Amino acid sequence: MGYCVLPAAAQDLSPLQLPSLDALPDSLHKRPLTELADIFATDKRASWHNFIELYDRYLTPMQDSIHRVFEIGIFNGASHKMWKCFFDSAEIYGIDIKPKPWVEKLGIHTYIANQAKREDLQQFILESGGEFDVIIDDGGHYMNHQQISLGYLFEHLAPGGLYIIEDVHTSLRTFYNGFGVDSTGSNTTFNMIMQYIRTEKMESNYMTPEEKKYLEQNIEYVELYKRKNSLHSTACVIRKKRKSGTGILREGQ
Ligand SMILES: C[S@@+](CC[C@H](N)C(=O)[O-])C[C@H]1O[C@@H](n2cnc3c(N)ncnc32)[C@H](O)[C@@H]1O
Repeated sequence: MGYCVLPAAAQDLSPLQLPSLDALPDSLHKRPLTELADIFATDKRASWHNFIELYDRYLTPMQDSIHRVFEIGIFNGASHKMWKCFFDSAEIYGIDIKPKPWVEKLGIHTYIANQAKREDLQQFILESGGEFDVIIDDGGHYMNHQQISLGYLFEHLAPGGLYIIEDVHTSLRTFYNGFGVDSTGSNTTFNMIMQYIRTEKMESNYMTPEEKKYLEQNIEYVELYKRKNSLHSTACVIRKKRKSGTGILREGQ
């Protein structure tokens, strides 16, 4: 089940939102995040989930010190174009299950990968070099997607980096169905975060014991963000410690 804002009819889109865009105009570089979110019409914008308020708070003060940004889930490229304009000199990476050649054309590194498959994530990390300052999960929003990606990718976040999971509200089965919440509701990403906040233990059906341990040793803090709107927009920010704990040793490394 997909979970993206349907694009307006092509004639309603601005040239900046169209796949035919050949370059990102210099006039947009370093414009405020809230403006860029509107210009490119990402669903992070103020009139939708308004996660842009959260990003503005965290990322604007770090604008010049962020060099590597990775977002899972490209869709029409809106947020990747926004990051590319905002972080003037950063390398921007994205994965999606579908090819996105019109985004690649703009100097954004795009890869085809399934966030629920460790072998795809491993290949992506090998090719991109990992060590991201920011990782954002705005992909499929299933419970296994969110938890496998967090478990695998947290090690590939630079010390002091930020990992953001969007749309944690897909854990709320009363409002959203079809995102892999089991009959007891105990496997949700929301429960996993709340349990971590309560106990500082990471409990997930989808992570390896090594991944859970690595998270427990390397999380600096967790912030859960919930807006009061009709979408129940919920996101989670996880900051990695500046000084890393023990790394996970994987096969072949
Ligand atoms: C909500 S849209 C991304 C929107 C975009 N980040 C933005 O803010 O403009 C979600 C995207 O995730 C992709 N997706 C769905 N399941 C995925 C998976 N298992 N792995 C990687 N990407 C996935 C979809 O193809 C879709 O393009």
